[in-house]
Amino acid sequence: MKIDVILNNRTEYDFSGKTVVVIDVLRATSTILTALVNGCLEVIPVCGVEEALTLRKTTAKGELILGGERKGKTIPGFDLGNSPLEYTKEKVGGRRVVLCTTNGTQALVQTAGAEEVLIGSFLNITKVASYLKETARDITLFCAGREGRMSLEDLLCAGKIIKKILFMAKNGTVPELTDSGRLAMIAYKHLVNKVKGPVIAIAQTEHGQYLSSIGYNEDLRYCGQVDFLPQLAIYQNERIMLDKPCYRN
Ligand code: MLT
Repeated sequence: MKIDVILNNRTEYDFSGKTVVVIDVLRATSTILTALVNGCLEVIPVCGVEEALTLRKTTAKGELILGGERKGKTIPGFDLGNSPLEYTKEKVGGRRVVLCTTNGTQALVQTAGAEEVLIGSFLNITKVASYLKETARDITLFCAGREGRMSLEDLLCAGKIIKKILFMAKNGTVPELTDSGRLAMIAYKHLVNKVKGPVIAIAQTEHGQYLSSIGYNEDLRYCGQVDFLPQLAIYQNERIMLDKPCYRN
């Protein structure tokens, strides 16, 4: 098994035969997992705002909730933005969500051809690593990045997943790492405080500082919680659902 890391969603990549984990710590994959654990039936990721609006027009009134952001702020005409704290049980329980974000949903839609696609974040990191350790396939950790550039928070999350898999595999076959895989692990080891966890490092990233500057400081603390939502979410047939739903009370 080989573990590779893609640093942004503008990389041409052959996903065929791979197990892929899409990572957008701030905030798309954190939001998707939160919505699903709060009882949302499914999340449909789309690239374009028009596509989302058309989906709502062609569906029974009130059946679909539109969520998404541009420049981190709620898209005009949408029901919710992209803060995971907005996706409460009251708002999304028993409903379907169409999500449109700048980087995360683009990355998801790009994974066509992959064998399977998982949602990765700090919120479910051990669950994801334990699942990956059991797969025999090559793994691609797909960091959504930020408008074609690397996002450090995504790289750190990929690094932590790799560190966990290597720790779990130490008595068995140790997976091979590509250079970007090694880079992710080194970055995690050097930049994340062992005690306080990733929250500090996340707040120091470019996107972390930007979100803080537009009033989403609480999202940084929330998205940096390790294993707060220990569940697997799978992207299949253009929608994301929990692997074995266990909703939060
Ligand atoms: C994205 O997908 O681009 C991010 O999640 C944007 C954000 O929420 O700030």
